[in-house]
Amino acid sequence: MSMTTGQTGRLYLVGVGPGDPELMTYKAVRTLDQTRVWVAPKAKTDGASAALQIASAMVGAADKEVLEVRFPMKKIRLEQEHDPEVQQGWQKAARIVLERLEQGEDVAFPTLGDPGLYSTSFYLLNTLQEVCHDLPVTIIPGITAMSACSAQVNAPLGLGDDVLSVVPAAFDDARLRDILQTSDAVVLMKVFRRLPAVIALLDELGLTDKAVLLERCGMDDQHIYTDIREAADKELHYFSTLLVRKKQINKVAS
Ligand SMILES: C[S@@+](CC[C@H](N)C(=O)[O-])C[C@H]1O[C@@H](n2cnc3c(N)ncnc32)[C@H](O)[C@@H]1O
Repeated sequence: MSMTTGQTGRLYLVGVGPGDPELMTYKAVRTLDQTRVWVAPKAKTDGASAALQIASAMVGAADKEVLEVRFPMKKIRLEQEHDPEVQQGWQKAARIVLERLEQGEDVAFPTLGDPGLYSTSFYLLNTLQEVCHDLPVTIIPGITAMSACSAQVNAPLGLGDDVLSVVPAAFDDARLRDILQTSDAVVLMKVFRRLPAVIALLDELGLTDKAVLLERCGMDDQHIYTDIREAADKELHYFSTLLVRKKQINKVAS
């Protein structure tokens, strides 16, 4: 992949929030509205792009050039060799974006939640910046899934002296026990297939009753598990987030 010099368009990484289209920011809506080319990520070749579905619920896509690109869902460990299929996905998306930018077109890349939190968009940006260091880019922040989950259950993520940790639970992370013990509040993302192991750990630490699980928060088929044991044998959707919070505002008499 090479970058020619000269005038290029601008890349917009647009956070579209976690599902409810009304949680898109005004800036996200305006940017998508004003950008003719959208490149949207999806996990499966024959699947739909969640980010595109959210974006197009607020901004008509009929007059847009919409290009869906597959980003294979595989575990990514930073500073390690990446799966070739994953890298090919990043390269392919980067080529598609670059071609439009070189034609002087702006490109919007809608992404779930916020671009800065475990989002495909930064793999794309990093791949593009390897060939074009001064790529014109604007990042539009979005409402994160954890913020929407917190709001949905009327509970804060963190308050006062709470130490909040955010963990991608997809990994068999030896640090998880330590994090759960030393943090006051923990958000577990990508928890779906790991839920039985996570419940076993929470049980051991006496934290199961401090946890709430939200599946497809803000979407039509949203499910909230206040007793997370009920979800243990369910095939959870990938869009599932577990919130754990240990402390109350006032000291509870024991
Ligand atoms: C690749 S990360 C994307 C995170 C996103 N960039 C954000 O700002 O929240 C995917 C994870 O986000 C969480 N997630 C995204 N949308 C969600 C939703 N509607 N309900 C619950 N969790 C969601 C899940 O934990 C899921 O495994």
